[in-house]
Amino acid sequence: MSDAIEALLEENRRFPPPAAFAASARVSSPALYTEADEDFRGFWQRHALREISWFREPTEVLDDSNPPFYKWFADGELNISYNCLDRHVEAGGGDKVALHWLGEPGEERRITYAELLAEVCRCANALRDLGVRRGDRVAIYMGMVPELPIAMLACARLGAAHSVVFGGFAASALADRIQDAACTVLVTCDGAWRRGQVIPLKEMCDGAVDLCPTIKHVLVVRRTENDVPWTPGRDVWWHETVASAPADCAPERMNAEDVLFLLYTSGTTAKPKGICHTTAGYLLGAMMTHRWVFDIRPDDVYWCAADCGWVTGHTYIVYGPLANHTTGVMYEGTPEYPSWSRHWEIVERYGVTVYYTAPTAIRAFVKAGDQHLEGRNLSSLRLLGTVGEPINPEAWMWYHERIGGGRCPIVDTWWQTETGSIMISPLPGLTTTKPGSATHPMPGVAAAIVDEQGVEVARGGGGYLVLKQPWPSMLRTLWGDDDRFVQTYWNRFGRDVYFTGDGAKTDDDGNFWLLGRVDDVINVAGHRISTTEIESSLVGHAAVAEAAAIGAHDPIKGEQICVFVITKDGVEQGDELRAELLQHVATQIGRFARPGMLLFTSDLPKTRSGKIMRRLLKDVAEGRELGDATTLRDSTVVQTIKDQADRQLGHR
Ligand code: WTA
Repeated sequence: MSDAIEALLEENRRFPPPAAFAASARVSSPALYTEADEDFRGFWQRHALREISWFREPTEVLDDSNPPFYKWFADGELNISYNCLDRHVEAGGGDKVALHWLGEPGEERRITYAELLAEVCRCANALRDLGVRRGDRVAIYMGMVPELPIAMLACARLGAAHSVVFGGFAASALADRIQDAACTVLVTCDGAWRRGQVIPLKEMCDGAVDLCPTIKHVLVVRRTENDVPWTPGRDVWWHETVASAPADCAPERMNAEDVLFLLYTSGTTAKPKGICHTTAGYLLGAMMTHRWVFDIRPDDVYWCAADCGWVTGHTYIVYGPLANHTTGVMYEGTPEYPSWSRHWEIVERYGVTVYYTAPTAIRAFVKAGDQHLEGRNLSSLRLLGTVGEPINPEAWMWYHERIGGGRCPIVDTWWQTETGSIMISPLPGLTTTKPGSATHPMPGVAAAIVDEQGVEVARGGGGYLVLKQPWPSMLRTLWGDDDRFVQTYWNRFGRDVYFTGDGAKTDDDGNFWLLGRVDDVINVAGHRISTTEIESSLVGHAAVAEAAAIGAHDPIKGEQICVFVITKDGVEQGDELRAELLQHVATQIGRFARPGMLLFTSDLPKTRSGKIMRRLLKDVAEGRELGDATTLRDSTVVQTIKDQADRQLGHR
């Protein structure tokens, strides 16, 4: 890690905003930063009053009387679906395309703001008929079809919180999340297209719903037309209920601090955390950062190539862009199918101007080869973004040159499910970028780097990344678990200092360089998975006595999951069991969590207090010299593990 960062800090290429870009950028003066620095309450209040359409304007800004339980605009009333849809239609903007959608097999849909509003109203009415009321929770488990954002907005219209579960999660992970929030309705699809195959989502739902007595109805979109199991009375088709529902539905008057959504993310225990976001502050963060960071203008065609199942999809496919009356692109499939040119065909077809993706995708494009760009006209692009993990300078340079034609600024955006919106990022008309650095905190964001004691480190130093001041789109709590909320984020450095769980460093110019997680969370292709989640899944298998999971470097995914497994006495180790255990994790958690490496060992390196020393396992997995093992209970263990690993890997 430290070698990598030293190499990064020697990075001295600098990319000032191109003059033509800066000349017409939405933010071209540093005044935004100074205004926010001088008075962050006044700054957010001005934007909230000017940019949000309120049913009742708030007189309060920030209530910080009981940290970390902050409230923003607490006496305001609004509806976020009204802000994303109705107000644009009322202002005459109903014919503008809200979404260009492309299915994996190639069919297209073009949905205007007026059409989207009508669909959202129909869906809201159908959900109401299924018993959904203000304050309820609705689970959404779908592929990337327009009905996914429609269902989210319909929940918001009714004042029910949505809990979107990424379609790559397995049935038991879906069940855990439904149970935690006691969801009453589940919205899904018959299946989802993935690389030409159908993933049977409805079938997987049935496995989950059997364990979830709170679910009264399952609303099913027909997408792939595969046969699905059906429970009459409980299950209803979207095309039978939503399609015939009335196309008007008054938006509920919600309080600014009413819950908008829950989104589960991995923590350091096996139980996922239900990150809880509320209405007005989240909307403000999503809308303003989307406009500032992506320099959004009325004629942009904006494509965030994430999945709605993650926070990036919530904030930068659905709420931010729609609140800004932006034309967006939504694609159903993965970047490699039917070929690695798919994304560039889409850019060309819709004339995409702003493109936002993950470093892991960029590294995969580099590996697939530049032949996939041949004959593609990418000249519509004017701005590029990345999110989810640190981007290595080589990938950044390739993105800049090959995709951006050397003319497009790149915004490397650092943020989290918890922060709700972008916290550290260049502003493309203003910031001089350096490949690999997310550069500076956004206006109104007080990011700092502190040492173990919470003391801020001097410029040029490294440590823990914290946020020292509340911000409107911050998480409000963990669903049903205020204690864990406080313990996880607000205990290490004080009740008013948010601990991000990331390490970071600044350089002499004050640019931030993100160094990855400092807790037991692995970041695989931009997806967060906790080591304990994987370990407890493995230990749940009859053949396994003990297991340890770590993240090891991977050239494409950033990190891959590597597991060390001790089997029970008498169990035969070998390729068959290895395959079975890998599949076990995939079925328990989800296919994206399948470990890339599984090694059988006879022991694990533990300290005297019994804590697994993951650092040493990382050395083994990455084929490095073993680090200091003197604090181990038995220092010979790790050499034994290394010998066993070398035998199984057979290449060192
Ligand atoms: C990591 C995704 C470096 C980080 C929006 C963070 C990043 C975690 C970046 C949150 C970036 C996200 N550079 N690291 N630009 N963006 N991360 O909750 O470790 O899925 O804590 O939110 O991703 O992941 P999450």
